[in-house]
Amino acid sequence: MSVSSKVLPMRTEEDLMIVRQTVKAWMIEQEFSLLEQTKLVTAISEIGRNALVYGGGGSALLEQLLENCRVGIRVTIEDQGPGIADIEQALQDAYSTGNGLGFGLSGAKRLVMDFDICSKPGQGTRIKMTVWN
Ligand SMILES: Nc1ncnc2c1ncn2[C@@H]1O[C@H](COP(=O)(O)OP(=O)(O)OP(=O)(O)O)[C@@H](O)[C@H]1O
Ligand SMILES: [Mg+2]
Repeated sequence: MSVSSKVLPMRTEEDLMIVRQTVKAWMIEQEFSLLEQTKLVTAISEIGRNALVYGGGGSALLEQLLENCRVGIRVTIEDQGPGIADIEQALQDAYSTGNGLGFGLSGAKRLVMDFDICSKPGQGTRIKMTVWN
């Protein structure tokens, strides 16, 4: 169950910084460890930057979750860019169509508990990342 949510723009580096700061503040409130905070914020940086660089910008939905007796955070970053034709390939380490190292997607996936990607050519990209405390 989502107890509180917020939609923020993801169009500039500054927007990305605000998303990172908001999530970090929520995680501190929810008493996530510093390690867990850093992991999610790092994943957000990678996915957010991809949305800016490849997707031409988009938005971020931030949700505070409550399930039975545990709390969580879900971050959904989406763009209306070209989408990803081969998701398996894009998720491979060191695969990049740009000037990057190609560790953004694969790294982000490893950093969060639940990582879900929905992307189709011409339909943009939406990535959901969820962590529980
Ligand atoms: N939002 C997106 N829209 C379209 N294509 C994307 C998107 N995100 C990732 N991709 C594609 O997936 C590839 C792999 O992404 P990944 O973040 O792993 O590497 P990178 O951005 O190229 O390099 P790095 O993140 O290491 O600097 C990208 O090169 C790009 O082709
Ligand atoms: Mg990247």
